[in-house]
Amino acid sequence: MKIVLCGTPEGVGRRAADLVQERMARGPMTLGLATGSSPRSTYEELERRHREEGLSFVGVTAFTLDEYVGLPRDHEQSYHSTIRRELTDRVGLPLHQLHTPRGDAADPHEEAARYDREIREAGGVDLQLLGIGANGHIGFNEPTSSLSSRTRVKVLTPATRRDNSRFFRDEEVPRTCITQGLGTIGEAKTAVLVAQGRSKAAAVRAMVEGPVSAMCPASALQFHRRALILLDDDAAAELSMLDYFREEQRLATR
Ligand code: GLP
Repeated sequence: MKIVLCGTPEGVGRRAADLVQERMARGPMTLGLATGSSPRSTYEELERRHREEGLSFVGVTAFTLDEYVGLPRDHEQSYHSTIRRELTDRVGLPLHQLHTPRGDAADPHEEAARYDREIREAGGVDLQLLGIGANGHIGFNEPTSSLSSRTRVKVLTPATRRDNSRFFRDEEVPRTCITQGLGTIGEAKTAVLVAQGRSKAAAVRAMVEGPVSAMCPASALQFHRRALILLDDDAAAELSMLDYFREEQRLATR
């Protein structure tokens, strides 16, 4: 794991956008997209670069991490609608190059297996953007998720449903989802996890400094060969090795 201390949420967004842009400059690529509030500063920065600097998404194929079971694609809170609204429509990524699991599939289990195959058949994900839940989940891999799991149907924890209820007005937050598994996510060539804010500090500490444990699914990234963890000051606040990470960053950037 490489810890990248970025100071502010905007700093996190700029650094993550740099990594995406650098990979895009090397040719056609498969980009893994996360939803939720964590990648917003990244998406805002990518949109700004698209608008002001002509950054083109023409060669990008995108796969999202997860979707709520039961929501049709055009539901305002489906992750399909969310990612279109927050990134892909804004940067001109053609709709046929955006892949998301179908939450309204007749058989969600079959749909999950199909989606896993689709990612593999596309040659795998080159760069996967990730957020982290306050309980240490990535995608919707809740605590106790198998560390080698594939894309499948998962039941959401009450804590996650509570965290995400802010996005749903009068409606109930769905109880199940389709999510890429930890094994699937682990196959991405580069993983870039962004975390901001004090509410993520404990989860970040468990992911980086805790044991690899299904109780903190993000800790599976300790096995990843190229996982970059981009943090603002608040998200980094509970790291006991913070001085070491600062030193590492200072020496590596010279
Ligand atoms: C969500 C998503 C994850 C996200 C995480 C954190 O529910 N399934 O992809 O990274 O939980 O959410 P947020 O970024 O809004 O804090």
